[in-house]
Parts: sequence; structure tokens; C-alpha cells
Amino acid sequence: MCGIIAITTSMKKPVSKMITTGLKRLEYRGYDSVGISLIHDGKIHTLKDKGQIDLVEKKLDLRSLKGTTGIGHTRWATHGPPNKENAHPHADCTGNITVVHNGIIENYLDLKQYLLKKGHKFSSETDTEVIAHLVEEELKQSDTSMKVIHAFKRVITKIEGTYAITLLHTAEPETIFLAKKDSPLVIGVQDDIKFAASDIPAFLEYTKKVIALNNGEIATITPKTVYIEKNGFKIQPKTFTVTWTVESAQKSGYPHFMLKEIHEQPISLRNTMTINSKKIEQASQMILNAKKIVFLACGTSYYAGLSGFHQFQRILKNKPVYSVIASEYQLYSHLFDKGTLIIAVSQSGETLDVMKAVSYARKQGSDLISIANVIDSSIPRLSQLSLYTKAGPEIGVAATKTHTAQVLLLARIILQLEFETGIIDVNKFDDYKKQLSEETPRVVRTIINQNEFKAKRLASIIADKQHSYFLARGKSMPVALEGALKLKEISYIHAEAFPAGESKHGPIAIVEKDFPVIMIAPNDWTANKILGNAEEMRARGAYIISITERDHPIIKRSDYSFIIPKAFSSLIEPITYVVPLQMIAYYTSVYKGLDPDKPKNLAKTVTVE
Ligand code: G6P
Repeated sequence: MCGIIAITTSMKKPVSKMITTGLKRLEYRGYDSVGISLIHDGKIHTLKDKGQIDLVEKKLDLRSLKGTTGIGHTRWATHGPPNKENAHPHADCTGNITVVHNGIIENYLDLKQYLLKKGHKFSSETDTEVIAHLVEEELKQSDTSMKVIHAFKRVITKIEGTYAITLLHTAEPETIFLAKKDSPLVIGVQDDIKFAASDIPAFLEYTKKVIALNNGEIATITPKTVYIEKNGFKIQPKTFTVTWTVESAQKSGYPHFMLKEIHEQPISLRNTMTINSKKIEQASQMILNAKKIVFLACGTSYYAGLSGFHQFQRILKNKPVYSVIASEYQLYSHLFDKGTLIIAVSQSGETLDVMKAVSYARKQGSDLISIANVIDSSIPRLSQLSLYTKAGPEIGVAATKTHTAQVLLLARIILQLEFETGIIDVNKFDDYKKQLSEETPRVVRTIINQNEFKAKRLASIIADKQHSYFLARGKSMPVALEGALKLKEISYIHAEAFPAGESKHGPIAIVEKDFPVIMIAPNDWTANKILGNAEEMRARGAYIISITERDHPIIKRSDYSFIIPKAFSSLIEPITYVVPLQMIAYYTSVYKGLDPDKPKNLAKTVTVE
């Protein structure tokens, strides 16, 4: 996820200040590096560096650049580490072209190979840079009358993947070239100035008149004009007026970051699955070569690891697998030695409890794979192999999209292990892999759409309760634990999760009329058993809320049900079942008048022991 902005104006004022302010509004999309390019006196002038906008702005004095047409970018690193070279904008060999991009050019390696053969010199490891060189190459190969727009259009037919692109060429110093597929790109319109950006907040201070580009559209903006076409046909732009305030718009119209992030899950899941297969193969080899495996994590990340742990145990029958809460690592210090492989799961990559545990394990000779969302953070830097979820920046303190992305990345590794160990053949492997990337985001989108209103209604029923239970069996336990954590951390209702069979050994003692009991009930071998546990609770007056599948007998015994589509693989159940629980927690917090984004006493990244 990156943020892009482009501005062109016929007013005399340089646009560097507006681009810099716009980038600050897009910083939630990434903050690994920042850069801007403006055309001035027929030349492109670029300033860029690693780091967040405030630092780079001061260091390079971004606002000093002259020019009335320019583009800017704030990066969430995907291809190539977050350094100055990989920071956008990227230029061609002549320096006449500059480009910023959000998305992933999947065929960039082939294109780069082709361009290298043609003699192009690359300055970065990014996928984006190929775009600038491709436009240069098209113009070089054509007769001199070829317009930039024609070269740009030809390039768009050659790239595969997802993109929002803005490009400048000195030959047309007032024109900005735009293309969009699957990554957001909107145009802002005012009389003498036009904007293009990943999100409306980037230009909301200057205009509320917006044109949303659709997939497959190519456009140009100049200070006075907007031209859009698709498949060679001109499109009549549809302008709408937004009513957002600048402050609320940073959340793209959502009242809270947490809700926005819940809704972003289909995208973050799809992006996470674009991970390089080689890295997954490497992870799987390390796992198969290890003598024992230890998952290490805290909080929500621990529950993602716990889902992985259950599946690892199933597959790696003769290999010991453990799951350890990082702050408790001393109790398990005997596990950390040569031959042990640690899998550290940490959204921030900075949690001190995890850092301490993995540092100790590394000193004892253990190997380390990390799963993090923040590129180049401390824990990945200690690892032999760093795997990244591509959930984008998560601002709400209660983790949502990073959690489901962690579970999906682990599911991808598990699939690889099933293939390597002969549990599934190559056809099934390819099929499941495809489903993980295509079907998972689709199912999650459906679950959000079908259950959001229900979660909101349930919030009004449970908001005044003091206590709640989350019950599950077998592999669904991590979901119950995560659901209980979400509810307690943002709604402050005491929530306890335990295996459903344990109720009778103590917890049922405090159940009374209307006591909320949330039951995670996939329609598998646990169906009849959990039905029995629901009956025990009902007999004491509990209010039964089931998260289940169509045809599960628990529906008839529940006061309230959320229906989850049958998963194509049990590997994604910890994702599909957790989504309604995130929404229940969110809406309960809101119903109680609390701020779900900033729960009291908690922080997003905990760097104390
Ligand atoms: C904090 C956050 C939790 C998070 C935990 C682990 O407690 O509030 O949401 O799950 O840290 O964070 P990590 O960055 O290591 O995943």
C-alpha cells in the first residue's frame, strides 16, 4: 500500500507545498520513504529519501521545489527494501520521465529483462521503475511524432498486476498521465487546478469535487482539463461532491480506523498472497530440516501463531512443535538450542517481549523465521528469513487486518508443507493456492457484507453485560481466544475464552440468565459435542450467540447466529470465523460510546517488558 498524489495548476504558485501536505494525509498508506518530482524550466527535479514525511520534508526541504506540475509518493515497501534508491518517483534513462505507482507489477522481472537487453540502466530494485523505461522505449522505437499518451497507453497494455500510476514527461510539462487497475485513484477538480491521488483526503482542503477512476481507465489531467478513456473510447467523467471534513476523511469516511481496517481485509489478504513463492519454499525447507519448531508471539499475533501451531502438529507428525507466549520464554528456555527453528509472529516487528525471546534463542543457536507487517523492523532484522504480511499500515490499536493476514501467510506455508510432505498432490496444491488468494478475500468480503448489520444489532443486546464467554473446540480455540481479546480490549466487557468441554469444570458456575456465550461452531466433527455444550449453557439461562455454518444444528438452539460460508479449506476458518467477532467487538465499543481506535491502557506497539 502506498500513497500517491499529483497536481497541475495554471496558477503561478509552486505545487510542492500542496503535494507535501497531501502526502501527510496519505501517510496511513505507508511511511517507508517519501519523494516528489516537479517540472520546472523544462526539466524534472526530484527529491526523495527513506523515512517518514516529516523527517524527509525537513531534511530535503521538499517545499522549496519550484514548478506548477508535480507528483509525490509515500511508500509501503514491497519490492526492494525501504531506502533512497527504491523511493519513488522513478526516472527513465533520459531523465525526461518520472513516475509514481501504487500496486504491484507482477510481470516486472520479464519486462526488466527485456529493457536491460535494450540497454536501459536501472537505479532501483522496484517493479515501478520499468514503467518509466517502457515509456522511454516506446517513444524511442516510434517516429518522432508519437505523443506521450500513445506511448503510455501501449505500456499499460504490457504491464500485468495492480496499479495506480501517475507519470510526467517534460515534452508536455502541464500534463499528468494516469492509469488505474485495482489500486485506488481519484481525480480532484477545481477551475485552474487538477489533482489525482490515492485517496480524497490528499486534496480535500482544495476541492470537494471528485471523479473516481474505474479499473482499466487511462486519463490525462491538465490545469483546465480532464480526459478519460477506456479501451480506446472516451468516457464522460462523472463528478461527485464529497461532504467529508479533512479530519474524518483520513479514515476514508469511516468513523474509526478499526472499521476501515476491518473493511480493508479483502485487499490486505489478497496483497499478502502476492508473496514470492521462493520465500515460502525456503520457509518450508527450514521447517522440514529443523529438529523442533517453536512459535513465539504476543497478544493477537500469538493467536495467529496458535492456529499455525495446530496445523503444524497435524502435518509434522514426528517433529515436536510448541507455541510459546514470548514473555514466558524463560520457562521454555530448554527448547531453544541448535536445531530449533523459531517462528516469530509480530505485526510491528518491534514488540520487546518477542525481541527478548528471539534474541535469547538466537544466542543459543536457534534459527529464526519472522512474520511481520512492518518491513525492516527489528525482529525481521534478527531473522534468517523474513516474511511479510502486506496488510498496509494498521492504525487502530486492536489488530484486525494484520491478524487475518498473519493467519493467511501461515496457511500458505502450511499448504506448502502439505505438498512437500506428500499430503496433497501438485494439482490440489495449485488449486488450493489459487483459492487462498482468490477465494479468501471474496469470502471475507461476503462475510463483512452479510454480518455487519447483525453485529451492530447484537452490540445493543450485549453492551450492558459485565461478563461473556467465548467457547470453541479443537482448532477453533484460537478464534475464540482472539474474539474474547477483541471484545475485552475495546468494549471493556470481561471476556473469557476456553475449550467448550471445560465449562462443566468450573466456568459454568457463574452463568445466569442472559449471560452472553459466544460459540465458535464450524460444521465438522465438533458439531454434536459443541451442541451439547450449548445445551448445558442454555439450561442455565445463557444467551447463546453462535458463529456457525448453514445446517449446523446449533442454529436452532441459539438466540442469535452469524452464518459463515463453508470454507474451501479448514486452513482459512480462523480467518472467516474471526471477522464477525471483530465486528461484534467494534460495534459494542461504539454502542458504549468508547473510542475503539484508542483503548485505554493499551498501545499498538509495546516496547517495554
Ligand atoms: C500489543 C497490541 C496488540 C498486539 C500485541 C503484539 O499488545 O495492543 O494488538 O497483538 O501488542 O504486537 P505485535 O506487533 O508483536 O504483533
